Amino acid sequence: MSSNDHVVEAIDLQKSYRVGKRSVPALRGIDLSLRASEFVVLLGPSGAGKTTTLNLVGCLDRPTGGRLTVAGNQVYGDGAYLSEGQLDALRREHVGFVFADFYLLPTLTAMENAQLPLLWRDQRDPQRARELLERVGLAHRLTHRPTELSGGEMQRVAIARALINQPTVLLADEPTGNLDTRTRDEILSLLRDLNDDGLTILLTTHDTDLAKCATRVLHIRDGLLVEA
Ligand SMILES: Nc1ncnc2c1ncn2[C@@H]1O[C@H](COP(=O)(O)OP(=O)(O)OP(=O)(O)O)[C@@H](O)[C@H]1O
Ligand SMILES: [Mg+2]
Repeated sequence: MSSNDHVVEAIDLQKSYRVGKRSVPALRGIDLSLRASEFVVLLGPSGAGKTTTLNLVGCLDRPTGGRLTVAGNQVYGDGAYLSEGQLDALRREHVGFVFADFYLLPTLTAMENAQLPLLWRDQRDPQRARELLERVGLAHRLTHRPTELSGGEMQRVAIARALINQPTVLLADEPTGNLDTRTRDEILSLLRDLNDDGLTILLTTHDTDLAKCATRVLHIRDGLLVEA
């Protein structure tokens, strides 16, 4: 952990995508810091750069400019440039992801899906998976497969999966984007509870209602952080 207790620190973070011969700027220099136990909501319209930001912070993609530190590790900037293997290790140790589309494997049970990051490495931890599924309210759905679960239940499994490696930060990209309003509120309430227990969360959304669960709200538009 860096001395100033920042789980994430991005300075002038930039990302341009190459499309054919053109360079398309998606992030035009944002400063973003996240301290332990914060619940930050990154709010902005479609195309603003929310997913781009999460993918950079989560070490799924590389910035094209600026500086980025995740859990005390310099990921980019000041001459630092991590290999794919180093990024992978950082991601595995420090980051949990949740997406709008859940991305559960249809043939696996809730218990197996929750252990997926372990199964990929030939590991298992059924006890922890069970505890996490109980924590997200799915004690009665352990052996169900995704087709036998509701949208909200699928997202609970995805949250359990994101927590299996005890991440330093949970990154949630529009986690309620495919849920009805009531289910959305249940998932938000769960995320709030997890944050109350100390989990650091960075969540993106275009839904202004979600700002209410944040300890801090950042507004993003056209690749820049802006005042509300
Ligand atoms: N792989 C890519 N190649 C080229 N351009 C991209 C790529 N990914 C994103 N972009 C562009 O970068 C900008 C930001 O995209 P991003 O996906 O980060 O937005 P977003 O805020 O997540 O939007 P949404 O709410 O629709 O998910 C957009 O203009 C988008 O078209
Ligand atoms: Mg997006």
